[in-house]
Amino acid sequence: MRMIGKGAVAVLPAAQTRFRNRDVEFGFRQDSDFYYLTGFNEPEAVAVLIPGRSDGEFLLFCRERDPQQEIWHGKLAGTRDAVAEIGADDAFPIADIDDILPGIIEQCERVYYSIGTHPEFDQRLIGWVTSLRGKGSASDHTPDEFVALDHMLHDLRLYKSRAEISAMRKAARIASIAHKRAMSICRPGLYEYEFEAEFHHEFRRHNTLMAYLPIVGSGPNSCTLHYIDNNRQMQEGDLVLIDIGCEYENYASDVTRTIPVNGQFSTEQRELYNLVLEAQEAALAMIMPGRHWNEPHMAAVKVITRGLRDLGLLKGRLTTLIKDGAYRRFFMHRTGHWLGMDVHDVGDYKVADHWRLLEPGMVLTVEPGIYIAERSRGVARRWWGIGIRIEDDVVVTRDGHDVLTKDLPRSVESIEALVGAAL
Ligand code: GLY
Ligand code: MN
Ligand code: MN
Repeated sequence: MRMIGKGAVAVLPAAQTRFRNRDVEFGFRQDSDFYYLTGFNEPEAVAVLIPGRSDGEFLLFCRERDPQQEIWHGKLAGTRDAVAEIGADDAFPIADIDDILPGIIEQCERVYYSIGTHPEFDQRLIGWVTSLRGKGSASDHTPDEFVALDHMLHDLRLYKSRAEISAMRKAARIASIAHKRAMSICRPGLYEYEFEAEFHHEFRRHNTLMAYLPIVGSGPNSCTLHYIDNNRQMQEGDLVLIDIGCEYENYASDVTRTIPVNGQFSTEQRELYNLVLEAQEAALAMIMPGRHWNEPHMAAVKVITRGLRDLGLLKGRLTTLIKDGAYRRFFMHRTGHWLGMDVHDVGDYKVADHWRLLEPGMVLTVEPGIYIAERSRGVARRWWGIGIRIEDDVVVTRDGHDVLTKDLPRSVESIEALVGAAL
């Protein structure tokens, strides 16, 4: 409210219920911006912030309680709980928004709103403002400026509070428990979906859900970055790449491990695995206040390029290979992204054309990888079909960083000890 100032109104709609087929709904997931500001977890709601308004600065429009509806759908918060529990200054039935909100907007000069995210609501809001203009009697204040709210809000979301970090720590811990559980029952002959099932079990046990579509890619599937079929039978001698994280109170973890299905890395697998691990360590060493966003990535690029050259997979001078991006053939994504309520969380990576400096409270992933697809031209056969990524979640602290997923083994020895340990 301080940032948008007096004379402004910010309007944020909740997410809508969506249908996956005919009348079957997707599980409801609240809009991240809306949840960030309200903590309110129902659809059909609109939050309105009006700094300095004497009759209330935080208004919530939401569904009214309805005994008939509640027989089917359970208890709703209703306007009373919206005030008592969510802390709105005032709450109104969502059905009355057409009668109430234009009158509030009319008093303001600037409307803060994220256009494009909720296309249907965009039309309604533009409709309200247009009808005010059309009245002719336009008071001095009829808003004449739409301002993008997302930019400001996303900068706030980039810096996690203690409460947010503790939710993220929990999401990371639950994901680590699930990864360990799945590793411990891993064996040749298991299907990728059976492996995935261990995660569903562990996540639901902790009242969480998948934060994104799970990736369980064994053998050659480990080289498909967004592989989601998860239907292959895992073979003796395969690696399996598992990229699965959960969402706790709408905060995500995003975790990848790559393990040998039979509990023993082959020579080639170990060589590449240790290279990715070394790249991850080099990237982690760059995570502290004052370093800029690209430094961890460049550290990983350097280790991976040098390693691939030493193994004969790239040929040429190190500096030239880095400058030309030769490593991109085998390491084609970046070393990380912001993490928060959204897996690829909001927040700019550059400020005024310069890489952003890392600051305490920012949370990011560190996830270098090497992927050598089957039948890669000019690459010896023994490397084919090896895809490796190691991904951890990291919070920047005052004097460095803290790895939220540090409970989950990463070294060759600790992984070999864990794979199949429960069998
Ligand atoms: N799971 C998505 C990612 O690693 O970015
Ligand atoms: Mn990631
Ligand atoms: Mn991931």
